[in-house]
Amino acid sequence: MDSVLVTGATGTLGGALVDRLVEAGWRVLAGTRWPDDPPPTAGDAGTVEWIELDLAEGRGIDRAVADAEAVVHAATAPQGDAEAVDVRGTERLLDAAEGAGVEHLLYPSIVGVGEIPFSYYERKREAERAVEASPVPSTVLRATQFHAFVDEILATVARLPVWPLPTEFRAQPVDHREVADRIVDCLADGPRGRADPVGGPAVHTLGELASAYREARGLRRAIVRLPVPGGVAKGFRAGKATCPDRAVGTATWESWLAEQYGGAATSAADRAGATSR
Ligand SMILES: NC(=O)c1ccc[n+]([C@@H]2O[C@H](COP(=O)([O-])OP(=O)(O)OC[C@H]3O[C@@H](n4cnc5c(N)ncnc54)[C@H](OP(=O)(O)O)[C@@H]3O)[C@@H](O)[C@H]2O)c1
Repeated sequence: MDSVLVTGATGTLGGALVDRLVEAGWRVLAGTRWPDDPPPTAGDAGTVEWIELDLAEGRGIDRAVADAEAVVHAATAPQGDAEAVDVRGTERLLDAAEGAGVEHLLYPSIVGVGEIPFSYYERKREAERAVEASPVPSTVLRATQFHAFVDEILATVARLPVWPLPTEFRAQPVDHREVADRIVDCLADGPRGRADPVGGPAVHTLGELASAYREARGLRRAIVRLPVPGGVAKGFRAGKATCPDRAVGTATWESWLAEQYGGAATSAADRAGATSR
């Protein structure tokens, strides 16, 4: 049985990957900074080994890659020190992977990281470059924002009586479980450099997404357009974080909302007119 190291195995994508990789017949080395308190896994516990891994501190990396034929590098720190985790951590991981003879490193990234001057995206682009320059055979797979992430963002405003949001931002959210499925397929296919990106089934404005979210949660709140100046906002408004020609995800925002909050959410597109401008 071949072994795969999953960094960020406790995360949104990493958690979905662990279960799928076990189902696909891999022995999974699951990296986390907190290996004594691992999340439950759906698969056979005997084929998942939780190991301590801290990419920012450089702890556990050599041991983590020593027995791995493949690595899926899903660790990230969007709200933390992305320079230490995403850039330096990726470089450390690549060095160790090269030394251990890893045959395939797959790096999940984000659609638009090369075009939107958001500091976290710039760190992700640096990490992509490090992966692409490394002698370790690799695949970089970009995806659009996860439904779970958009849900998390909207939950931060949900308690407010009025939701100030950059309603014109464009997003094409995708179910992270479909991205995990694609990653498992990519591992089976072998290293391919840059893979085709994975986008959700439809592009929406944030106003449309928020309006469907509000309805799914049965909340009565006003959504008001928050004008945001600058290049980052311009990039999101222009749809630089979307890939409409790669709308390969099938799970819609409405189906995500129905799964999370129950009921049948109506189409986000139908809600466009309901958003205050
Ligand atoms: N979220 C999105 O909408 C989205 C969209 C497209 C692509 N992606 C990409 O998909 C990948 C996974 O994203 P996600 O949203 O699933 O991540 P996430 O839920 O935020 O999880 C982050 C993971 O990183 C680990 N981590 C943080 N600091 C670490 C460190 N110093 N050393 C080792 N591990 C560390 C955490 O593990 P512990 O806390 O257990 O150590 C956690 O498992 C990332 O590459 C991201 O850029 C995300």
